[in-house]
Amino acid sequence: MFNAIVIDKDEQGQRAAVQALDESQLPAGDVTIDVAYSTLNYKDGLAITGKGPVVRSFPMVPGIDLAGTVHSSEHPDFKVGDAVLLNGWGVGEGHWGGLAQKARLNGDWLIPLPKGFTAAEAMAIGTAGYTAMLCVIALERHGVTPDQGEVLVTGANGGVGSFAIALLAKLGYHVVASTGRSSEHEYLKRLGARDIIDRESLSAPGKPLGKERWAGAVDSVGSHTLANVCATTRYHGAVAACGLAQGMDFPGSVAPFILRGVSLLGIDSVKRPKADRIEAWNRLAHDLDRDLLAVISQEVGLSQAVQMADQLMTGSVRGRVVVDVNR
Ligand SMILES: NC(=O)c1ccc[n+]([C@@H]2O[C@H](COP(=O)([O-])OP(=O)(O)OC[C@H]3O[C@@H](n4cnc5c(N)ncnc54)[C@H](OP(=O)(O)O)[C@@H]3O)[C@@H](O)[C@H]2O)c1
Repeated sequence: MFNAIVIDKDEQGQRAAVQALDESQLPAGDVTIDVAYSTLNYKDGLAITGKGPVVRSFPMVPGIDLAGTVHSSEHPDFKVGDAVLLNGWGVGEGHWGGLAQKARLNGDWLIPLPKGFTAAEAMAIGTAGYTAMLCVIALERHGVTPDQGEVLVTGANGGVGSFAIALLAKLGYHVVASTGRSSEHEYLKRLGARDIIDRESLSAPGKPLGKERWAGAVDSVGSHTLANVCATTRYHGAVAACGLAQGMDFPGSVAPFILRGVSLLGIDSVKRPKADRIEAWNRLAHDLDRDLLAVISQEVGLSQAVQMADQLMTGSVRGRVVVDVNR
């Protein structure tokens, strides 16, 4: 038997709770993993609270991230005892995920635990940190360099935002953080933000074009915020868009793209090819100030994760939540 958060749905609605499951209930897959740690991402919050249509079949074990060791394997790349990491691939949405003591899944989705990271550290980074790294790599590939001026990070206190600030600052960029939480300015400065703006300056409907300010931006918020960020991005700048914390809509105009040559870089982490994942994790090992992990993350046990998901959805959680699935 093993413990897992299980999301059930019936006529009375959807609910999530820790349940004891039998290994025979695990889904099909060629690698079985003893999970050590998982995390709570925004998507896990949507799944557990039912606030977004994330779960595609019930009952579902949520958890889009996991780190642990291989318990048994029929996959040529993995053997018993290997330390492994999983981010995305629809796990926790359509296939049972990481918020459990055991997981069984397709070995093609796994990568070796990146060298130098413990399982807990890899989960402190999780999909949020790995996505922030993908955004930074996309801006670099576009040609955004530190000497070009300010770069903006929206959703600054969130998981993606926190890591985007830490990574960009370490790489020498002048980072401006956009947040709705004035109480967290010290935290954002500690991560490396040089300036902080109120997210309300970006979240209301704006003009097609505004004063040029940003050389580049990482946006995890979407909606009017993304439209306003594009409208204020400098000539030939780029915006890496990865999230929808404000909304999925994009109520902007083509003006920034056709008049200023601004590029909107779409970032998906879920189905990213293995080579890109390994590159991003190698960059995280190289470019992330490891001491900040303790500042950015907090740890909870499996039984606390359900309640924590509610807090995540109200926007009251700072940084990242690591889940020790064995307590
Ligand atoms: N494309 C991908 O593959 C990918 C991967 C990871 C995440 N994501 C998406 O990226 C987003 C952020 O994920 P996360 O894990 O960082 O979530 P998170 O930890 O919950 O952070 C989201 C942050 O957005 C800000 N925010 C929340 N509600 C807002 C609103 N109504 N208007 C403006 N800002 C708001 C808050 O920051 P402040 O309090 O500082 O304002 C909050 O901390 C989510 O939409 C997630 O689904 C996408």
